[in-house]
Amino acid sequence: MTQSNLSNTEAIYNRIDKYRDMVTDDPYRLHYHLMPPVGLLNDPNGLVFFKGKYHVFYQWNPFETAHGIKYWGHYISDDLIHWEPAPIALAPDQWYDKDGCYSGSAIVHNGKMYLFYTGNVKDESNNRESYQCMAVSENGISFEKKGPVIHIPEGYTSHFRDPKVFYKDNLWYMVIGAQTIEGNGEVVLYSSPDLENWDFLGPIAGSNKNGLGEFGYMWECPDLFTLHGKDLLIFSPQGLEAEGYRYNNVFQSGYLAGDLDLHGVTFKHGTFDELDRGFDFYAPQTTNDNDGRRILFGWMGNAETCDTPQPTVRNHWIHALTIPRQLEWKDGKLYQRPVEELEQLRENGVNYTGVEFREQEKKLEGVKGTVFELQIAITEWQAESFSVNIGHNNRLIYNQSKKTFTFQRKRFTDDTVEYRHCQLDTLEKIHLFKDSSSIEVFLNNGQEVFSSRVFDEPDTKEITFSVDGTVTADVYRWNLKK
Ligand code: FRU
Repeated sequence: MTQSNLSNTEAIYNRIDKYRDMVTDDPYRLHYHLMPPVGLLNDPNGLVFFKGKYHVFYQWNPFETAHGIKYWGHYISDDLIHWEPAPIALAPDQWYDKDGCYSGSAIVHNGKMYLFYTGNVKDESNNRESYQCMAVSENGISFEKKGPVIHIPEGYTSHFRDPKVFYKDNLWYMVIGAQTIEGNGEVVLYSSPDLENWDFLGPIAGSNKNGLGEFGYMWECPDLFTLHGKDLLIFSPQGLEAEGYRYNNVFQSGYLAGDLDLHGVTFKHGTFDELDRGFDFYAPQTTNDNDGRRILFGWMGNAETCDTPQPTVRNHWIHALTIPRQLEWKDGKLYQRPVEELEQLRENGVNYTGVEFREQEKKLEGVKGTVFELQIAITEWQAESFSVNIGHNNRLIYNQSKKTFTFQRKRFTDDTVEYRHCQLDTLEKIHLFKDSSSIEVFLNNGQEVFSSRVFDEPDTKEITFSVDGTVTADVYRWNLKK
């Protein structure tokens, strides 16, 4: 490291020290989610299982609660629920990454961990350059940068980033999020025999390709893998117009499912499906662990909420990652379930079997809290609507005749409320994770998911149920260890 970067690192650790108490004492601080020690966190990066431990890196601006220069922060875990902070993995200290070590991925090869990331470079007139770079580590903690391995190919703008590397049939492959000079978002594919020399194979999907129609001006954070025989391409397109209940956030994250031919460089796929219906979800990434599970983390935020004043900003931090979810391909759809390790956080369980909800408003003794898990398994439904009201302002509502599920929260900027919805033919189960300032809802064992930050009065513990008709359900509530 150069002298200036050594002092930058020192400045970062000083900032962490300076604001530690403010962050720790913030009533909105999350308890079982990964969040930055100070500053802004965005995308999860480099998820990987290495030498018996899970590694999660993240886009990190330690100096502000706004976007800006990005480092790779780093957490390590034995079990996906208890995380230890590790030293900064990548700092923007070279000519090819001086304005940010942007998003990327990790793989393990010959006992070493390799990181691939985008070096973001801007000149005096704010013109952008981008380089796909590699860094290597023996111990998974300190990384040696090897510099750029890919330069922007012809036909693409410098919005060319977020390399995700994987191994298949004796070759390494990389997908990159791209923008063509005509202004179409795309995902392009490279291959390599040795991780250092990469061949450009071409686009595998994009706006105005394979029957997708106009589909955004830039595709960020691609991820490509096979699950239960289906090829899945996850990415985050920018520039989609809202269509009814779909695409309501500023940018989206979702997937195409189909059949990929790596040699022919073709991907026959169906339509795009969003991964999450909530307000705060973007740039997810997956990895396979030793048990063969496909695990996903997302950024529990998005570009829009960066610009609205979240209350945590006064305590010098903003944003978090989602809880880890296990993916499954089932009935032509990606299902997402919270990983089962989260059950280890449960304490003081309360359960009710066969509760009949028939009044306008009902409370259940002991079913309340600020940091908890709640499961509602519906056994009989004779109602027009059913809602779970969490705190003063958050409501989950299922409407039978419209067949819609709605998530309501208080806006960050005033006392009015806002909504996200999805279509859902029947409601069988609501599984909900509440942390001090977030709610993640899994419906029907992961068929639909809503992830959102919520800023109710911090000590509001109340949960009530209201129904128009009669609903019978089994209800389980656990506090989650802080
Ligand atoms: C997605 C993204 C990526 C980029 C990173 C920069 O949120 O814009 O495309 O690499 O964030 O922090």
